[in-house]
Amino acid sequence: MKPHEKKYLKDYTPPNYLVDHIDLRFDIFEKETIVTSVMEITRNRKTADEKTPLILDAVDLDIKSVVADDMVLMPEEYETEKQYFKLNRVPENFTLEITTRLNPGANTTMDGLYRSGNCFCTQCEAEGFRKITCFPDRSDVMTKFSCIITADQTKYPVLLSNGNMVLKGTLENNRNFVKWEDPVKKPCYLFALVAGDLSCVEDVYTTASQRRIVLKLYVEKENIDKCGYALTTLKQAMAWDEEKFGREYDLDLYQIVAVSHFNMGAMENKGLNIFNARYVLASPETATDSDFMNIQSVIGHEYFHNWTGNRITLKNWFQLSLKEGLTVFRDQEFSSDMNARGVKRIEDVKKLRTRQFPEDAGPMAHSVRPESYIEMNNFYTATVYQKGAEIIRMLSQIFGKQGFRKGMDLYFKKFDGCAVTTEDFITTMEEVSGIDLSQFRRWYTTPGTPEVSIKRTYTPENRQLVIDFQQLNYDNQFKHLHPPCHIPVKTGLIDKNGQDITPDKQCLYHLKNETDQLVFENIAPGTLASLFREFSAPVKLKTDFTIQELAFLLEHDNDDFNRWDAAQQLFFREIKTVFFNIKNNQPCNLSLPVQNAFGALLARTDNKKALTSKILALPEEDEIGETFETIDVNLIHKARMFVKKSLGAALKDQLISTISNCCRYSPADLSSKAMAERSLKLLCLSYTGALNTDEATEIIYRHFLASKNMTDEIGALSILTDIASPKTREALDQFYDKWKHEPLVIDKWFAVQAASILPDTMDRVEALTRHRDFTMENPNRIRSLTGVFSTQNPVNFHRSDGRGYRFLSGQILALDPKNPQISARLASAFSQWKRYDVKRQALMENEFDRIIKTPSLSKDTYEIVTKALAGGHQGIFE
Ligand code: TRP
Ligand code: ZN
Repeated sequence: MKPHEKKYLKDYTPPNYLVDHIDLRFDIFEKETIVTSVMEITRNRKTADEKTPLILDAVDLDIKSVVADDMVLMPEEYETEKQYFKLNRVPENFTLEITTRLNPGANTTMDGLYRSGNCFCTQCEAEGFRKITCFPDRSDVMTKFSCIITADQTKYPVLLSNGNMVLKGTLENNRNFVKWEDPVKKPCYLFALVAGDLSCVEDVYTTASQRRIVLKLYVEKENIDKCGYALTTLKQAMAWDEEKFGREYDLDLYQIVAVSHFNMGAMENKGLNIFNARYVLASPETATDSDFMNIQSVIGHEYFHNWTGNRITLKNWFQLSLKEGLTVFRDQEFSSDMNARGVKRIEDVKKLRTRQFPEDAGPMAHSVRPESYIEMNNFYTATVYQKGAEIIRMLSQIFGKQGFRKGMDLYFKKFDGCAVTTEDFITTMEEVSGIDLSQFRRWYTTPGTPEVSIKRTYTPENRQLVIDFQQLNYDNQFKHLHPPCHIPVKTGLIDKNGQDITPDKQCLYHLKNETDQLVFENIAPGTLASLFREFSAPVKLKTDFTIQELAFLLEHDNDDFNRWDAAQQLFFREIKTVFFNIKNNQPCNLSLPVQNAFGALLARTDNKKALTSKILALPEEDEIGETFETIDVNLIHKARMFVKKSLGAALKDQLISTISNCCRYSPADLSSKAMAERSLKLLCLSYTGALNTDEATEIIYRHFLASKNMTDEIGALSILTDIASPKTREALDQFYDKWKHEPLVIDKWFAVQAASILPDTMDRVEALTRHRDFTMENPNRIRSLTGVFSTQNPVNFHRSDGRGYRFLSGQILALDPKNPQISARLASAFSQWKRYDVKRQALMENEFDRIIKTPSLSKDTYEIVTKALAGGHQGIFE
């Protein structure tokens, strides 16, 4: 199989031709869609002359006609290769009209123009526009768009595109049409079109400058009662961006469409966001508290893109983190302001540690600004998004609130309407502050997670506390050391009575050398340092804290994140001790400090229930695995279950009374307090469930039956699915019967079964692929079954007989011809293969072999699998 072409940042050149204006027309019919595009094309005099050919991107397009300045071109007058459309000689300014014929009904990729249910919609990021018409499909070509859509008026009464509606009417043959004009220039990846029979919920938002913005949320009729939360959140996001960043919305209309078939979370198309329905539709009966929180993040995220991504866009796709890292930071801050900041930070760091750290240590490692790619869609990664957001967060720490805002203001002012780079962003930040960021820039260009070790020395004679830091930036792929990073360390001091005695409240220390030293003078004995408060830098921290010190931090630190992190460290140590005891056939027991700390937390009445439930949750098996050189899934599972069960037994009465005390709020209450109470209750239930007694099962089952919202219902069901009891089957059947008409709830039904730790899970998962409701056509369904099984069920996916691996590769190969984006995402579950024992490595290698030998494998999956295979042996970016 011929290797696919790789694109390099170093080969970037500006566009030779620009498109000032494009008038699109879509004539939609059941069997085909005719797309007519009229472009005003101008040569870029800085880069091209009259000998420079015009090359447009065009993938698998059926070109019907080409007209240049009113002259009809014969097919021999233009070249069309598989990926391009080429005219050898063109004037400096001219009009080009191209007509293409598409068959969206046959497009299963969910990229370009496709069908989702009874609705037509587009997805153009990253490079989908070239599947619709011939165009310079690159983000630095910014164009004014207009779009006429015609379709049958009974089946497609709603016809949407970007900007403002300027004309509508009816045509012959029961057809209707609408014309849209987007007044703001944009790159073509932000183009969108929707045609369908959708219902609309409308609202109005008045901006700070008293402009009235019409908000429209389009959904399928039966979902009209599940839009309230998304709309409220949108208005909150609009107000928040005005207050925190001084950014108002620019158009008069903001539209969101929810579709059931979607590859990712949502898409920020100008004035017409398209959303995966799961990030819009919610009611307390059908959505969990964490679904609501996710909706808040994604609604915020897409809205914030209007300034960070759309008004200011990317020069090329290597700059993806310029919009994604920055916009994730903005949505994280929005959620932090709307809920408990400390809890949000814990969730975000947990996500970073479980997804981004392993990615950065494995064969998929790439810098936040990658140097090359084969398939751009594979670069929507945890590194670009989550680590990218951490970089912005560090800057906001280094600059302080006001300094950061000043930098952002200048960034918006300088680059509004431009396509720019991460370097432009950093330069602007330097400009306002005078702070030298030359070393800081390495965060964008260096892959890997820096490792920071600390050692503390206290000298009672001169009351000096010295903290020695060492940072290591080891490159796992190239086996060498990168130069040190600029690492901000937010540090606090706590005296022996638990009082915070941090000098000037906030102490931000800048670690810049391989070894550095922080000296505190006049420190009383017993004073403890709290380091990397709020997780002030995305590093792996190795400390020399004792169990007693960790327990002290857990109890007294006023930084929520570090309290949680201290508890995590305690749990890690506890589980590891048990792990080695099991391994060496030694007796196991729960240590008293951990049990006491746990009990004290449950007894605490400081009303931080959300935080408490985070702190009391054991690290997941994959997080524990990360702390080992070679991951032993079974032993990790056993050790973790032992600790869970022991805690459940030791604190049984306290857990039960907490469960019964968590009942003060109505099941439909979406306030932070109500959510916090539910999460603590479910956590206690899951410890109770770990006891695996009939009595415990009965408690969970009763909770399931009594539940009056989805949080409690699926929460209890997911605990039950880990218990081998006839009750579990009963509950699953009842749940299915109750919810079979709600696809987003049925996704959850698949997911809890795919995550079950029971030994027959593999059989069940295979059987579920033959369930009438399972379909390869819907990415949400695939993610809930195959995705959850391969990424959230280590013991069953990594079965020693290799059946889990065989199952996954079968799914990948079945999906690849239909939807390569999702197939490649599934394949990345294999990327950590080198972390397992040689037997499992060999089993996974077999599957790689089978995948790679498949004829006409997509370049998406090809790129992931070849990188995984090469992992560790050779560089990815040669
Ligand atoms: N830009 C989108 C976001 O972060 C994500 C996105 C990228 C996407 N490519 C996509 C969404 C393809 C759907 C399909 O919000
Ligand atoms: Zn985004």
